Amino acid sequence: MTSTSHDRLLIIDFGSQVTQLIARRLRELNVYCEIHPFQNVTEAFLKDFTPKAVILSGGPASVIDEGSPRPPEAVFGLGVPILGICYGQQVMMQMLGGQVESGHGTAEFGRAYVSPQEQQLHLLDGWFVAGAEQVWMSHGDHVSRIAPGFEVYGTSPNAPFAIIADLDRNFYAVQFHPEVHHTPNGAKLYANFVRMAGFTGDWTMHAYRDQAIAEIREQVGDAQVICGLSGGVDSSVAAVLIHEAIGDQLTCVFVDHGLLRKGEADEVVTMFRDHYNMRLIHADEQEMFLSALDGESDPETKRKTIGKLFIDVFQKHAAEVGGAEFLAQGTLYPDVIESVSFSGGPSVTIKSHHNVGGLPEKMGLKLVEPLRELFKDEVRALGRELGLPPSFIGRHPFPGPGLAIRCPGEITRQKLDILREADAVYIDQIRKHGLYDEIWQAFVAILPVRTVGVMGDGRTYDYACALRAVTSVDGMTADYYPFSHEFLGETATRIINEVPGINRVTYDITSKPPGTIEWE
Ligand code: XMP
Repeated sequence: MTSTSHDRLLIIDFGSQVTQLIARRLRELNVYCEIHPFQNVTEAFLKDFTPKAVILSGGPASVIDEGSPRPPEAVFGLGVPILGICYGQQVMMQMLGGQVESGHGTAEFGRAYVSPQEQQLHLLDGWFVAGAEQVWMSHGDHVSRIAPGFEVYGTSPNAPFAIIADLDRNFYAVQFHPEVHHTPNGAKLYANFVRMAGFTGDWTMHAYRDQAIAEIREQVGDAQVICGLSGGVDSSVAAVLIHEAIGDQLTCVFVDHGLLRKGEADEVVTMFRDHYNMRLIHADEQEMFLSALDGESDPETKRKTIGKLFIDVFQKHAAEVGGAEFLAQGTLYPDVIESVSFSGGPSVTIKSHHNVGGLPEKMGLKLVEPLRELFKDEVRALGRELGLPPSFIGRHPFPGPGLAIRCPGEITRQKLDILREADAVYIDQIRKHGLYDEIWQAFVAILPVRTVGVMGDGRTYDYACALRAVTSVDGMTADYYPFSHEFLGETATRIINEVPGINRVTYDITSKPPGTIEWE
């Protein structure tokens, strides 16, 4: 889905690790933007996209090298404001008649301080109020001569051209990364840039909702749509949005694989079928999944078995919806950004992630992905806009393979039942202590060991479990949550007293990396 009714800013990506953050900063300013890898940005593309402004991202290459990435010349003839960041600055200088040299002795990585020049620049409104500004540098090469028409507006000890601009052409370029948190005033620089470019900040969640509904109607026409509903935030928001657009043309399939948390299936079905009046198929396939997994202990086999069965089951039930042409998915923006890889090598598979990504090719369905342009917190904001209850919107992520990957070692129904009970007590504790929203994700893993204990006057020989709770921004890195000892002690006591089958509780204090969030 492409937004056409809003002013659009184009980010040309040269492969920086932090290009997404540029988009993030712009969205916070209610500006609609899209990131496109430099290879895709041709002259024809530019004509079609008609950006109101362009940002050239950073990137790992050296403009001095032959064949290094470049935007098309035409970008400088569009007559719109352009902002170059780091590599973006260097490529601008190289193409517009300046000069770039290789690092030796002037490479800068990390914190630096930029001081103003005498002349003022509106891009820097609100900067230098308390003297030099902290910025984040990350460059090997540097600009050694600026292009004709440019002047200097800020310098750092190692970057004499830290901030440059050509006011006649509305071209701006900075050597540092204003999009990262370590450039504390960076957001202001973006705010000034988009204000000067004439953006009105009309990209609000309300506008997005109306536009998305109109686009879904146009895309789908009177065809049928099916949607795999997991009860997680993304698929829930996607389903409610699509339902608002096309009502009973949408059928959701909720697959209960027997690996859900306590009460979860009822909660999801009640919410969507009874509260939202959606057509919902509750596929109770616990037997099929649990017999296939019975006794299985290899983490990858578990994941692959679940992934494959999930597709089979989904297909079976989707066939009940006669003639569906579309499959709806809650794909988010970070999942779809095509980032530019310079390494060329395949990345290592840590875990085979389970999602419904394999479905469309197999089923010959077209995709409806109304959240493709949103970050996770924007999806939550859209959920609020759509009136989804806060308890749903704030839910911790739950993995597709469910409790299977929280049961290291052999999966048995008995262990899953014990795990469900222990998890419910743990989450109840977290909610009672008002900690749920501070934590990215919390759960219990049941361990494949039994330990000796004493309860009353008797000996016990039961399972040990591990509590896990992490803070994170995106699930890519995480730290363990620093519960108080009182909280941990109280929770351990409750679990052991209330959950038959567990007689020992441990707390997992591993960060990610080196650990992962889930145990398998
Ligand atoms: P890891 O364990 O890789 O998890 O640190 C990072 C985040 O991803 C979730 N996760 C999954 N989500 N399908 C999903 O939809 C999966 O197969 C899967 N495996 C892990 C995990 O819960 C955490 O939020």
